Amino acid sequence: MSLPTLLVLYGSQTGTAQDTAQRIVRQALRRRLQVQALPLDNYNVVNLISESLVVFVCATTGQGEPPDNMKNFWRFLFRKSLPVGSLCQLDCAIVGLGDSSYPKFNFVAKKLHKRLLHLGANLLLPVGLADDQHDLGSDAVIEPWLTSFWDRLLAVEDEPLPPSYTFHFLEDVKEKTDDRLRIPAEQTVQSHSCPFPARMVSNRRVTDASHFQDVRHIEFDITGSNIEFAAGDVVVIRPCNAPEDVQQFCQLLGLDPEATFILRATDNSAGRFPTRLPQPCTVRHLVESYLDIAAVPRRSFFELLSTFATNELERDKLLEFSSAAGQNELHSYCNQPRRTALEVLADFPHTTSELKVDYLLDLFPDIQPRFFSIASSLQPHRLHILVAVVHYKTKLYKPRRGLCSNWLASLDPAQGEMYVPLWVKKGSLKFPKEKDTPVIMVGPGTGVAPFRSALQERIAEGKTANVLFFGCRSVHKDFYFRSEWEEMMEAGHLTLFTAFSRDQEDKVYVQHRVRENAGLLWDLIANKSACFYIAGNAKQMPASVSDALKEVFQQEGGMSAEEAEQMLVTMERTSRLQCETWS
Ligand code: 2AM
Repeated sequence: MSLPTLLVLYGSQTGTAQDTAQRIVRQALRRRLQVQALPLDNYNVVNLISESLVVFVCATTGQGEPPDNMKNFWRFLFRKSLPVGSLCQLDCAIVGLGDSSYPKFNFVAKKLHKRLLHLGANLLLPVGLADDQHDLGSDAVIEPWLTSFWDRLLAVEDEPLPPSYTFHFLEDVKEKTDDRLRIPAEQTVQSHSCPFPARMVSNRRVTDASHFQDVRHIEFDITGSNIEFAAGDVVVIRPCNAPEDVQQFCQLLGLDPEATFILRATDNSAGRFPTRLPQPCTVRHLVESYLDIAAVPRRSFFELLSTFATNELERDKLLEFSSAAGQNELHSYCNQPRRTALEVLADFPHTTSELKVDYLLDLFPDIQPRFFSIASSLQPHRLHILVAVVHYKTKLYKPRRGLCSNWLASLDPAQGEMYVPLWVKKGSLKFPKEKDTPVIMVGPGTGVAPFRSALQERIAEGKTANVLFFGCRSVHKDFYFRSEWEEMMEAGHLTLFTAFSRDQEDKVYVQHRVRENAGLLWDLIANKSACFYIAGNAKQMPASVSDALKEVFQQEGGMSAEEAEQMLVTMERTSRLQCETWS
């Protein structure tokens, strides 16, 4: 939790209360709190009912009167019409400045205290009553009062909400194997809560060893599932954390990976239960397949983490990252270099060792599933994908890795049976049912995946009017499925155009090939009602291909730029132009 903005409201006659208010502001800023100070009469007192954190600094004049710059506030506050309890949302603290040589010493602060309590406010600590008569002046009281105030304020924050779940560790082997505790595994509909454990049949690199990118063609056996899909659909896979990350996590937190627990929801769980987790569950399973320790953590992670910090340095840093004022710092520490939650834990070892296991599900979101275009037709009970293994560099020494693609790449079916839990979802690409409707598909790189599925499906159905534009860097390095395309071409089922961007001096892209084949494309689109598809992950690619298509319309159809644009819009509206892109 981050603290709300701290409001410092003061009533000052000679300037001492104002100085004190400004000192509180400086101290708050040093603690990375959002803070604002105002003379009481400059503050719209009606807003008090929605404030949550206010410090009042009030002087008392010689006659026991409030200072001039809080007189309006004072009148308002003592109105009879103010309902009792109207300030019950307010946490506040009061420090008074007075002079004990006068009979009504700190009368304003004391009276304010009574009134605020009557209105329901919560006082964070006893009223500070500074005395000008003290040898050290008002500071003799204000300094220690401020120390207690900050301790109290940050201590309130140090108490985290109770966890959403509690972990009950099972000691007894008999207890661990009690079948009554298990959730039935036999369910038949594959979905997010019940994925199908598909056996990985093969996992082959399809780029040359000299190529910069590792791209995998992965094949799953889905026999025995009731999974059905059509070309254009996507498979959903939830990855696991790497074993070395699981081990490091358990080490940092001092957890035994083999310890077994049952989870119970508390009142804070808001009715949510991680149904994906078996009951009982091992710590290893929880960390490996549920807790997203490889993602870049959010601000709320730091907020909750800070509540466990006892080491002062770590606590200050975590509080800074949790505060509104510390967001730039947090961005450059965490988001920019894509630092993972696990790396953050390693950076805050004292705090991490203090973490309470009950909070794990509050600290870490569950691992999100990833979507891949299916790269095969349904028959014969196989499901293929094409995965680019994600590695990239940031300012951190260690290269960043995509969780899912690296996890998939690490599974080697030659080492034993590998199962990947998956399910499928309808995709956005739809291919025509009519046998004679031609399709034109533009899929550079892994964008070709859904088109391999479409081609297999269409050819099996006798739909042979297929045009594919494929682009990659080099004919020798990343020309995926080359022999398959060649077979289809030989059989007269496919017309293929390739763009190898780096096999010559000038870049050649799929959009260049689209322009070069304007006559053919115009004929297919204008005369044969062809559907046009674009898929891939190059950011600019879809727009460039659309532009090339408009040029085709202008050149071959004699259209103006506006007419070509209109035709593209109409094709999109009628699903004759479909696009699926990813990053
Ligand atoms: P490049 O990497 O040599 O620039 C698959 O990634 C293919 O798509 C590669 O040949 C890549 O070329 C190419 N590509 C990159 N940006 C593109 C764009 N804006 N339009 C079309 N193709 C692009």
